[in-house]
Amino acid sequence: MSVKIQLFFAISSSIILWGGCDNDKQNQKIDEAAMARSASIYQTNCASCHGEQMIAFTDRTWKHGQERDSLIQTISNGVLDAGMPAWGKVLSEVQIQELADYIITGIEHVKNFGFEEVRLESDTFQTEKFAFHLDTVASGLSIPWGIAFLPNAEILVTEKKGDLILIKANGEKVLVSGTPKVSFDVQGGLLDILLHPDFANNNWLYLSYSDYIIEKGDTLSGTAIDRFTYKNGTLTEPLEIFRGRPYSSAKWHYGSRMVFDDKKHLFFIASDRANQKENPQTLENPKGKIHRVYEDGSIPEDNPFVNTESAVPSIYSYGHRNAQGLAYHAETGVLWAHEHGPRGGDELNIIKKGANYGWPNISYGINYDGTSFTQKVAEEGMEQPVHYWTPSIAPCGMAFVNSAIYPGWNGDLLVGSLRFKYLNRCILKDGKVIQEEVLMKNIGRLRDVRQGPDGYIYISVEEPGFIFRLIPL
Ligand code: HEC
Repeated sequence: MSVKIQLFFAISSSIILWGGCDNDKQNQKIDEAAMARSASIYQTNCASCHGEQMIAFTDRTWKHGQERDSLIQTISNGVLDAGMPAWGKVLSEVQIQELADYIITGIEHVKNFGFEEVRLESDTFQTEKFAFHLDTVASGLSIPWGIAFLPNAEILVTEKKGDLILIKANGEKVLVSGTPKVSFDVQGGLLDILLHPDFANNNWLYLSYSDYIIEKGDTLSGTAIDRFTYKNGTLTEPLEIFRGRPYSSAKWHYGSRMVFDDKKHLFFIASDRANQKENPQTLENPKGKIHRVYEDGSIPEDNPFVNTESAVPSIYSYGHRNAQGLAYHAETGVLWAHEHGPRGGDELNIIKKGANYGWPNISYGINYDGTSFTQKVAEEGMEQPVHYWTPSIAPCGMAFVNSAIYPGWNGDLLVGSLRFKYLNRCILKDGKVIQEEVLMKNIGRLRDVRQGPDGYIYISVEEPGFIFRLIPL
């Protein structure tokens, strides 16, 4: 089946789910001017978390009530420890009432209000340098978070809901056994996957995920990494590499991309767990940090804070918010990371040993509710980003192109955009982004991008979940 047909299938079935109400009768009650006002407020304030097309509200179990009054309550007061800001001080009562009507009406009239997913016209894309075709490597996935390439040309992919899937050369999917228990909630789940550089000999692979405990009826979670031995569809010999303790009730900002450098140091991200006041600027807990350990989780003796009293010794850099992209540039030996800003101010950084990246003291972004948490974009002793994105593109996944297959792309940095559903090509010169090209607009929330051992670029997109390979024409 071609890509075009598969995408159409998945999307048209969700439209059927949303439809099915008596549109003409309902239409008479709609105040179009109020809808237009709310649409604009929604785009500015809500779309970054709930989706441009209100998708987050359509096919869900309502937690806080679907009636008009409950919606007004939730929007005004927020659900602070779950990451929903309170809007009562920022928006007027009337604006909030209109937003509640807008959400109710929007869900009922998804078709009339143009909330349908944009459909891709073709699976062939023209770029500034060449045209390419998308080859479907795997379909029928949901949220494929991380991809790894086995030496025998099979692929392993983490599904956020907790499954590790083996994709055989003929496209057949097999569930891998022995995966850890994960807290699959909001941003938590089974997250990144990384093979050890000597995987062909030792069969080691690393999984990052949201680990959890239940304490007095509450679920507390944190970023976790384990190493496993992988053979024939089974994981054995779990070894604990990292636990982002103390665990907390927040369900987002886990990080947690992983990468090896050429000296078998494992770098990984443990994000700030949505507690910007307590976590990113202290060295006494592991959250809001990039860490460096050896292959078994032990601490390199030249880590920057090994001799700092009460510092977590695996910390390599700090002052990070929520980072979901990490890439090692083998030729220069430089580590790159990107991170989500709050509203605006997503950053691309070159990671230096012991450096402070400034969150939340300095930022180019503002709070989700439009208020600012800092006036400062720079401070002595804090690193400046190489590049920042305002409005936020919501970056996820990152890879350098180091392949003769793509004429003119060698050395470029590819970054996925969850929010705008495209692949961003950053053209670098002297460690700066000098130009960007948007590739495959509307392909879907782009979760991971990697260059395979075959030199081809692979991407994963979610809901519906696919893995695609870019084949130049
Ligand atoms: C920073 C991200 C973020 C932004 C921005 C945001 N929300 Fe939310 N919102 C959430 C999260 C997370 C939840 C789920 C809370 C939970 O699980 O209890 C939520 C829940 C809700 C709910 C309740 C859904 C339910 O299940 O009952 C409503 C209604 C809502 N948001 C409306 C809005 C509106 C309207 C805006 C814009 C004015 C907005 N949100 C902006 C993150 C956000």
